[in-house]
Amino acid sequence: NQPRIGLIGLGTMGAALALNIAEKGFPIAVWNRTSGVAQRFHDDAGDLAARIVPTETLADLVAAIAPPRAIILMVPAGVAVDAQLESLSPLLGPEDLVIDAGNADFHDTNRRDQAALPFRFLGMGVSGGEDGARHGPAIMGGGSQTDWDLVAPVMTAISAKADDGTPCAARMGDAGAGHFVKMVHNGIEYADMQMIAEVYGLMRDGMGLHAAAISDIFAGWNDGVLSSYLIEISAKVTAARDRHTGAAMPDVILDRAGQKGTGRWTAIEAQHLSAPIPVIEAAVMARNVSARLDERQAGEARFGAAPGPCPLDAEVLEQALIAGKILCYAQGFTMIDGASGRFGWTLDLPGIARVWRAGCIIRSAMLNDMADALAEDPARNLIMAPFFADLLARAMPALRQVVTQGIAAGHALPALASGLMWFDMMRTARGTANMIQAQRDFFGAHGFERLDGIDDRHGPWG
Ligand code: 6PG
Repeated sequence: NQPRIGLIGLGTMGAALALNIAEKGFPIAVWNRTSGVAQRFHDDAGDLAARIVPTETLADLVAAIAPPRAIILMVPAGVAVDAQLESLSPLLGPEDLVIDAGNADFHDTNRRDQAALPFRFLGMGVSGGEDGARHGPAIMGGGSQTDWDLVAPVMTAISAKADDGTPCAARMGDAGAGHFVKMVHNGIEYADMQMIAEVYGLMRDGMGLHAAAISDIFAGWNDGVLSSYLIEISAKVTAARDRHTGAAMPDVILDRAGQKGTGRWTAIEAQHLSAPIPVIEAAVMARNVSARLDERQAGEARFGAAPGPCPLDAEVLEQALIAGKILCYAQGFTMIDGASGRFGWTLDLPGIARVWRAGCIIRSAMLNDMADALAEDPARNLIMAPFFADLLARAMPALRQVVTQGIAAGHALPALASGLMWFDMMRTARGTANMIQAQRDFFGAHGFERLDGIDDRHGPWG
């Protein structure tokens, strides 16, 4: 019963993942840099301790695993991963496999894939937070098919299962493909969260609703089209009361959002790919603005607080959020599609939507329909899929109403407004870039295409 798999890094996510693996019947050897941690982890594992082999040194860890070994790294992304790969190098052979399961920058994973490592290497995006890691995360693998096949039985066993029973674990493509898809997942996570926060703000500041009333509205939405983990927890956090003051929990939390960087990476990478993802970009921008608390306080002192009364129906807000969500996902999937060409991956869009259906932070009922719509025609923009085009046609008037009324009343709605703006551009066959082209030609003789086919690329200003 010697383990064939090992795990390095018993932080929150690593510990939860190791317990999940042991629970699914796979013996696992574990090691942590700090001495004693692995032994304590074993001792606290209850019934699962029998399948957990704690080790004190990296060499002990390697020795405890039967070759060909699979070793999962759950250490902070960046230099710690490179350091760990280096210290594993003299200990492992060409048949052994190391899996980086942290939130790595996919460029790093591409680089590591190309490096002459003396062992095999997979990059793996894992989503679902601690609870997901413990009971069933969504898993996005990147690397060769052979390497994925080696660990696929473990990954499918520990992953979340969609309602139809399909495991939410799949190989996305070569090298950094798994971490790339996880990065876009996080960008979408930022956008979903921002749009919910904007609607929360309209209810709190525009409609004067208390957290408990807002919670009831979120809970109601969770039974409908918006049914999702993030709406579910939004209902829970608005219902919760502070254990110190008894106040509604959101009312005692400072409005300054943290970020570890994956949303920002998505926005930066989208620019490199020329992929328009304005809803995600707006969500990243909003986190950056939220961090500038002193400036916001000075701004309010100088110009007065912005948000005023804004009466809206909860049903209209729900429809607006439905529209915003479809627009955001359409942008995210287009970006993923763009990466296929750029990085030589064959990213399976419906397959990605299927992996996101359960276990991950953005899991939602709507992803089932998105998977179906993308399967019909992966090359078509999601907003043009008949199912979503119909939903959008019904929901866009609500998004327009919420954005225009909200903005008129002084509410900042960057993500919702960006979605609306993008949609209006996407349904405008004759836009205004002719003016850009004229200016470019004027100052730089860059040339333009004509509508009438006459063979002349320049204006009369030269
Ligand atoms: C997930 C989450 C996870 C993590 C993010 C949060 O899919 O499980 O996305 O990866 O919670 O790191 O990111 P920020 O700290 O940037 O908000």
